[in-house]
Amino acid sequence: MSLDALKREAAARAVAIVQPGMRLGLGTGSTAKHFVDLLAERVRGGLSIVGVPTSEATRAQAQALGVPLTTLDETPQLDLTVDGADELDGRLRLIKGGGAAHLREKIVANASRRMIVIADETKRVETLGRFPLPLEVVTFGLGATRIAIGKALAASGCAGELTIRKRQDGSVVLTDSGNLVLDAALGRIPDPDDLAARLDAIPGLVEHGLFIGLANAAILATASGIEIIGD
Ligand code: A5P
Repeated sequence: MSLDALKREAAARAVAIVQPGMRLGLGTGSTAKHFVDLLAERVRGGLSIVGVPTSEATRAQAQALGVPLTTLDETPQLDLTVDGADELDGRLRLIKGGGAAHLREKIVANASRRMIVIADETKRVETLGRFPLPLEVVTFGLGATRIAIGKALAASGCAGELTIRKRQDGSVVLTDSGNLVLDAALGRIPDPDDLAARLDAIPGLVEHGLFIGLANAAILATASGIEIIGD
């Protein structure tokens, strides 16, 4: 089965959990895109839900498919967020932000009673950090922010290059909130909880891609079937 087919399998399992009346957080990325596609099918079949998109891309997709949308201003508490991940470990700690959406994704997940991660099996790791850690930063004071980030990384036993994310044509990637993304190529993050706390304390770093204590469960699609982590 292709990786994309596995992603759709995980998304399909999550869509089956959605109950009428739910207020949903709608994730970002290729796996979450499958979820929104399949959710739209259920909506066309009469399912009544509202969703808060975690990115402009997901908003556009959901709108085009007729999925009813709301905002966290209108609907500040959600029942369930379903989102992808770039990496997850056995304790449901995540790296997110490969699509530069982790700021809104974290706000939405934090406003949800439950968060379920949907992913193919390649996302599971023993130790987080193989995927470069996305750091959303404001342009003001970038030099000073980089130094503060470097100190936090070193204090947490991490080392690696910080690279401003660019597209293939060389243009700088801006997030939906108009910020830059620094990708930290760390290789391994020995203590994700410690690093997250240190990064949380840096002014100018708007949000980092470590999601700690947010995911309740993961639906992992493997070649031999669906595996559930958590409850
Ligand atoms: C978006 O910023 C990310 O957090 C995505 O959730 C993550 O990149 C997963 O995307 P895929 O499902 O495309 O791997």
